[in-house]
Amino acid sequence: MNFRLLISSLALASVSTTFAGTRDISPNLFGVFFEDLNYAADGGLYPELVQNRSFEYSPSDVNWGNNPHNNWYYFTSWAMERKDGICTISLESASPLHKNNPHYLRFKGLTAGPEGVGIRNDGFDGIPVNKGEKYDFSVWTRLVKSPSLPMRVTLSEKGNIISDTTVTISNKDWCKHSFVIIPKADADSASLMIRFMKPATVDVDMVSLFPQNTFKGRKNGLRKDLAEIIAALKPKFVRFPGGCLTHGDGLDNIYDWKRTIGPVEQRRGDKNIWNYAQTFGLGYFEYLQFCEDIDAKAIPVVAAGVSCQNSARKRGTGQEAIPMEEMDKYIQDILDLIEYCNGPATSEWGSKRAEAGHPASFNLEYIGIGNEDHITPAFEERYRMITDAVHAKYPDIKIIGTSGPLDSGEDFDAGWQIARTSNTDIVDEHFYKGEEWFRNNLNRYDKYDRKGPKVYLGEYASWGSKLSNALAEAAFMTGLERNGDVVEFASYAPLLGRIGHCQWNPDLIYFDGRNVYPTVNYYVQQLFGTNSGDKIIDGVFANDVNYASCVKDSNTDDIILKMVNLTNEPKPIAARLPSLKGYDTQAALTVLKGESLDDTNGQGTPGKISPENSGLKVSRNFVYPMPPRSLSVVRIKKQ
Ligand code: AHR
Repeated sequence: MNFRLLISSLALASVSTTFAGTRDISPNLFGVFFEDLNYAADGGLYPELVQNRSFEYSPSDVNWGNNPHNNWYYFTSWAMERKDGICTISLESASPLHKNNPHYLRFKGLTAGPEGVGIRNDGFDGIPVNKGEKYDFSVWTRLVKSPSLPMRVTLSEKGNIISDTTVTISNKDWCKHSFVIIPKADADSASLMIRFMKPATVDVDMVSLFPQNTFKGRKNGLRKDLAEIIAALKPKFVRFPGGCLTHGDGLDNIYDWKRTIGPVEQRRGDKNIWNYAQTFGLGYFEYLQFCEDIDAKAIPVVAAGVSCQNSARKRGTGQEAIPMEEMDKYIQDILDLIEYCNGPATSEWGSKRAEAGHPASFNLEYIGIGNEDHITPAFEERYRMITDAVHAKYPDIKIIGTSGPLDSGEDFDAGWQIARTSNTDIVDEHFYKGEEWFRNNLNRYDKYDRKGPKVYLGEYASWGSKLSNALAEAAFMTGLERNGDVVEFASYAPLLGRIGHCQWNPDLIYFDGRNVYPTVNYYVQQLFGTNSGDKIIDGVFANDVNYASCVKDSNTDDIILKMVNLTNEPKPIAARLPSLKGYDTQAALTVLKGESLDDTNGQGTPGKISPENSGLKVSRNFVYPMPPRSLSVVRIKKQ
């Protein structure tokens, strides 16, 4: 059919569309899920530039599969620096600076030579620094047998010294030395050297080089560019700290939030189920502060008293359950977490939040119990104990349960069944699928029971970073909006991947030490996040197409249409709006499109595809010619 004829016939069809009014939908539909996977925290959002700063990396952090960390140990990322001198290093634990930080390095310099002898850290793939910016350097030392001596701290890249500071140390007990470093040149891949200029025996721990230029300038804050690109999604919530990381690699690896607060040198790190070490420098306080900073609701997730079924890589059968006699303590830890977030500054745990600099409540409203667990009797028993206890003490906190790792099947059905008969407000669903699955399931939530618990689609993605994947997700997301009365939250996963250190692909945002690389899928999430509404307007599109949605945002009264063309041809779509009285008929149009469905934004190169802004004249009945391979967002502004 000729394109013009098609448009006019669709225009007629639009007239016969029944406009069915508006329904309330979740005002918090689109958010993010953050997990320390792919170096998302250490080496990522947590901008510590010294890798393995407290010598706690251990060969036992790495325990499965085809691991990239063959040389992973206490001195990973460290080396001796001994041009003309003679020295040794050893790992010690006899009298650490804190019991939670059990290992330290003992440095023995027998001769120092004119250049001194010491240690060097190469960061995460090198240390990137910017000329003229301020970096907080600190190190804990203890002189063992030596008199006072000069300690020289330099940053250099390929032999060029870009900062050089010498201080005299004389402390016989653990003592922190801090000063500010201002590099005199940019470097992508510098090294940090600490050299002792005389023969000496010195204990060294907690070596840190931390940018002052963090997100919102916070101390121990977040990497600015990564935090900003997450914030630019305008997420309404942040789910954290995982994922499989939460329920952990066996019982002794269940994420323990209490280890993640307080002074960083007192946070006991742990192995990470994703085969590396986690320092917890990015801990609960930092997560909650970030949520507040970006005006997103915090959704912490805790284990449901069982570990990940993939623990120790026993695919599906590795679930271990906390012994019943330890459950009271475990449940108390969860109640303490809620008190930490919301309790008065005079309460036991609220006072720790206040000590960290936040006397006011973080106003926690939700908590996730469990992460895509295998739904066993052991799980169910513990899940009910936890949810009953949380509900009894904090009836206003909404509880998010789990329905296993798949979109359907035994765990899925059992998880939902438990949710319907327990103190569960929302059920977390996860699915990673091919793009065809998304295209074929645009109506997934149409038939969900509106009277039961709501849905949190906590993890989803189609397997790929191509335009076709992103558009399949976009079309699916219009279905989430149309069903926003039953789908409360949705978050793509995983969020971050450091190039060269990904255990999981695809990810929404790739990055290296210096740059961030948003995928096409990122822009889809961003367009939905920045154009969300709290009411769905039904019946706007002819034939009730399932690849478009129309929402209204009560804050602005703007009307927003999202339309997805998954094909290689232009495709007209007819819209009939309720009334445009008081609206500007010159609408804002944003289009995300590409030359080929196989286009991607690549990793390590600037993206080819990003949203383009223009305008569109609209009327109550109009036909919009969707470009091939596109997501279009039309925002009709209230005057
Ligand atoms: O998002 C990556 C992983 O996928 C999560 O840790 C887990 O919940 C899921 O299997």
